[in-house]
Amino acid sequence: INIPKFQEDLISWFEKEQRVLPWRENQDPYRVWVSEIMLQQTKVDTVIPYYLRFMEKFPTLEALAYAEEQDVLKAWEGLGYYSRARNLQTAVREVVEVYDAKVPDNPSEIGSLKGIGPYTQGAILSIAYNKPEPAVDGNVMRVLSRILLIREDIAKPKTRKLFEQAVRELISESNPSYFNQGMMELGALICTPRKPSCLLCPVQEHCVAFEKGVQEELPVKVKK
Ligand code: ADE
Repeated sequence: INIPKFQEDLISWFEKEQRVLPWRENQDPYRVWVSEIMLQQTKVDTVIPYYLRFMEKFPTLEALAYAEEQDVLKAWEGLGYYSRARNLQTAVREVVEVYDAKVPDNPSEIGSLKGIGPYTQGAILSIAYNKPEPAVDGNVMRVLSRILLIREDIAKPKTRKLFEQAVRELISESNPSYFNQGMMELGALICTPRKPSCLLCPVQEHCVAFEKGVQEELPVKVKK
């Protein structure tokens, strides 16, 4: 794989074809954080109206930190997985107290906050701070498993680390934010689980699975 060409093809496509989404309005780390937590178990179309209402009610990290928990849970009502909302408020309160209300910009500090796992950590660091950190979720594993023909079982907890290593080798150092968001957007719009739109894919020429015609066999996910 020609890494610089791959990066350019992906990022140029993202610049042209990205969806207009409310959390893409700016790079405020608090706004990116809330969006990534909401998007963890919930689809984009469902998240949008909740996200807009949540941002009206709690426009800043401090507004959320000083809010009543019951008001936060009420704003979350319908999204489900309420521990996400409770952990988020616990974490923003820690950011106010320990980090002077500034979201940390390094892996160890941000990764120790409640509810921030490896994916969310990488998403915030890359999208809000433009740091070259992997942000690997199920969509990114699907895209990469096809491009690089990786047949590891994505249901195994250890496998994500392998994909993170792959991203570390591929990621653009000049635009990590658009690289990671381009991978996510490719998984959402083109490199879908069934019947991927390979003929429209901006990185088709780099994709080993397409070359071999096995894209629909990937990723490998062994049922428990
Ligand atoms: N899924 C997870 N993160 C996302 C993002 N930032 N934009 C769109 N879909 C996503």
